[in-house]
Amino acid sequence: MISQTLREARKYEEASEKMISKEERPAFHLSVRTGWMNDPNGFSFYQGKYHLFYQYHPYKSYWGPMHWGHAVSTDLLHWEYLPAALAPDEFYDRDGCFSGSAVTLPDGRHLLMYTGVVRERQPNGGHIEVQTQCLAVGDGIDYVKYEQNPVLDEKDLPEGCSRYDFRDPKMWQEEDGSYRCVVGSRPGDGSGQILLFASRDGFGWHYKKVLAANHNRFGKMWECPDFFELDGKWVLLTSPQDMLPSGFEYHNGNGTLCLIGRYDRETEEFTEEADQAIDYGIDFYAPQTILTPDGRRVMIGWMQNWDTCNHRRGNDEAWFGQMSLPRELHIKNGRLFQTPIRELDELRCGRVAYENVTVTGTVRLEGIQGRRIDMELKIRPAEGCDIYRKFAVRFAQGELCYTSFSFRPGESVLKVDRKFSGSRRAIIHQRRSKVNHDDGALKLRIILDRFSVEAFVNDGEQVMTAILYTDQAAEGISFVADGTMNMDVVKYDLM
Ligand code: FRU
Repeated sequence: MISQTLREARKYEEASEKMISKEERPAFHLSVRTGWMNDPNGFSFYQGKYHLFYQYHPYKSYWGPMHWGHAVSTDLLHWEYLPAALAPDEFYDRDGCFSGSAVTLPDGRHLLMYTGVVRERQPNGGHIEVQTQCLAVGDGIDYVKYEQNPVLDEKDLPEGCSRYDFRDPKMWQEEDGSYRCVVGSRPGDGSGQILLFASRDGFGWHYKKVLAANHNRFGKMWECPDFFELDGKWVLLTSPQDMLPSGFEYHNGNGTLCLIGRYDRETEEFTEEADQAIDYGIDFYAPQTILTPDGRRVMIGWMQNWDTCNHRRGNDEAWFGQMSLPRELHIKNGRLFQTPIRELDELRCGRVAYENVTVTGTVRLEGIQGRRIDMELKIRPAEGCDIYRKFAVRFAQGELCYTSFSFRPGESVLKVDRKFSGSRRAIIHQRRSKVNHDDGALKLRIILDRFSVEAFVNDGEQVMTAILYTDQAAEGISFVADGTMNMDVVKYDLM
């Protein structure tokens, strides 16, 4: 029942995982079991556990024929690997099982929907990938591909849509028990759009409508859509390719987009009201969400970006690819807010706190250091002084290296900068974002986990995420002010 290709992948991953010590991995972010990981897939709660699958090439730390890796967790922070769930082993997915999603069927089985990829030879000798949507049904460990795959192909596409860009189905169940899914597609205008499909039973699918169209506004092709209700609004998340920058909101290359609006369940009409980036840092892409049993909308993303994959620890390290922290989502004042899942609080220990520290020049504080930490900073101008020109917090700091967040109140700009993190590659190492502040007063919650930083600004109004491969011995933290400012610091180690 299990194909040779999948059996080999399972054997390989079990053996090579043993060569990676715990210390070589992030502590509470999911990293790939072995080899390469990209997008989160099939994020779901099934039989009492969170399941997270991912785009997976076990044999090398580079992208290759896509499998689905698999891990489970009870708190979304401690993960246990399960055997790879899908391998490219059928005529309709022989060149890859691309991104997709999961739901639980009424009879208790776990249903996966993914994109099957087949490379098609072109008259000029090149290849293009034909993409269709496929199903697999399983018990949380082993999955059997549906005998009628693919369930959606070019025949189900509206006129003018490309059969080469049709991928990443995200399913959900409606209150009446029927199913919907959104899928990324490329219409005749060459940009992107999100299509809505419906199914009575999860197996027979048909086309409904174009849920949202890019019209070349935000990049080109839209990948990895997700669509859900949140705090009275409807949210469409997608990851556009080939973006052009727009102020500090969107940057070049692969980006993230959040459209917030209204949705009429009767007519299935989505009306956009606002747009924003999802993450304002360097490394975040293709997020997927889940509704937890206690009703929280939680998002997890690939903590990487296609444009920055040359930033690596080595040439063929044992693993490449991590997921972001799971983040609880809310809509406030018409914007997407993200906070680290509250389960993270359980990992906190070794509290060190300082109040009203005055910073001019460089300051280090006893007990404030580490590479697995949760640190909250409240910064503000010092009383009786002119407003400071710049504040910076440096972390993962050694003799020659550091990464920093710096804030210039005069420009309302927060910048992440890993230029001095030890990277030897000429790729993007900085990113700036406009942030809200109250005359120089700003809140930052910074989470470090060995190879990454995620900064939550103003209680989650914005997030900036970046990967850093700085040597783990570099665990210093310092605060730098141009001018005089004041701050409170609370730091926990995360165990
Ligand atoms: C997004 C993506 C998806 C695709 C997958 C392939 O990062 O390009 O659109 O399904 O990666 O690995």
